[in-house]
Amino acid sequence: MQTFVVCLINESDQQALALDKRVNRAQAGMGRKLRIALSKGRIFDETMPLFEAAGVSPIEDPEKSRKLILSSTEPDVEFLIVRASDVPTYVQHGGADLGVVGKDVLLEHGGDGLLEPIDLQIARCKLMVAGFPETDLNSRRRFRVATKFTECARRHFAQHGRQVEIIKLYGSMELAPLVGLSDLIVDVVDTGSTLKANGLVPLEHISDITSRLIVNRASMKIQHSRISEILDRISMAVRC
Ligand code: ATP
Ligand code: PRP
Repeated sequence: MQTFVVCLINESDQQALALDKRVNRAQAGMGRKLRIALSKGRIFDETMPLFEAAGVSPIEDPEKSRKLILSSTEPDVEFLIVRASDVPTYVQHGGADLGVVGKDVLLEHGGDGLLEPIDLQIARCKLMVAGFPETDLNSRRRFRVATKFTECARRHFAQHGRQVEIIKLYGSMELAPLVGLSDLIVDVVDTGSTLKANGLVPLEHISDITSRLIVNRASMKIQHSRISEILDRISMAVRC
């Protein structure tokens, strides 16, 4: 006869277990190089001057190499090249110890297991609701909203007590209202030229956005002096 043991654990036990798992994974990574996750393109281009000033930068150009792990000028640090929206996932699960990510992506992902010690003040933009100029956001209709920031959009419209249908897209959000897929979009806006070129206008501000340096919570505990030293150098570069 088989015997089953049922174990009931409460929420704080579950959180402690999750932290334990993360600490174990981070401890497993103690002997290896410190890993910094970055995305190619805008984040990489704007982060590099800061990292170079801090004395830690990749020795290969990710635009020219197909490698996804790049050695750096600092012998015990390497860079991981990942998609912008995947940076928090890598850092949260200990695949990387540190990462650089837009606050928009962070708001969408949530901060579980992550510390956000430095605002790098780069890739500055705003997360906004946009649509056709004649749109009355206060009308009682149920708007269709196209966005890749589905959680941010859901939260924003719920806070304003507005009923919406969210349509998930992965890019070119500005196209959706033009072809009748949605009434509104939620996307990042910088100069406003993409909206303007497509006959749209910003309608409502959701959040100011800059890129943040994020750190795995368990890595920070276990490799405190090593990570703090790098954070100090990057903070200094941001202030200069
Ligand atoms: P993914 O490939 O995961 O969809 P992405 O294409 O949005 O990511 P990027 O365009 O490189 O990645 O943007 C990275 C970050 O830069 C964004 O998360 C945002 O914080 C910021 N950003 C995006 N567009 C602009 C812009 N036009 N001006 C300034 N900052 C921007
Ligand atoms: C971003 C964003 C907007 C545009 C806003 O697109 O999705 O389309 O920038 O910038 P603007 O206000 O200065 O026009 P991006 O250029 O990153 O293209 P992608 O999202 O397709 O990668």
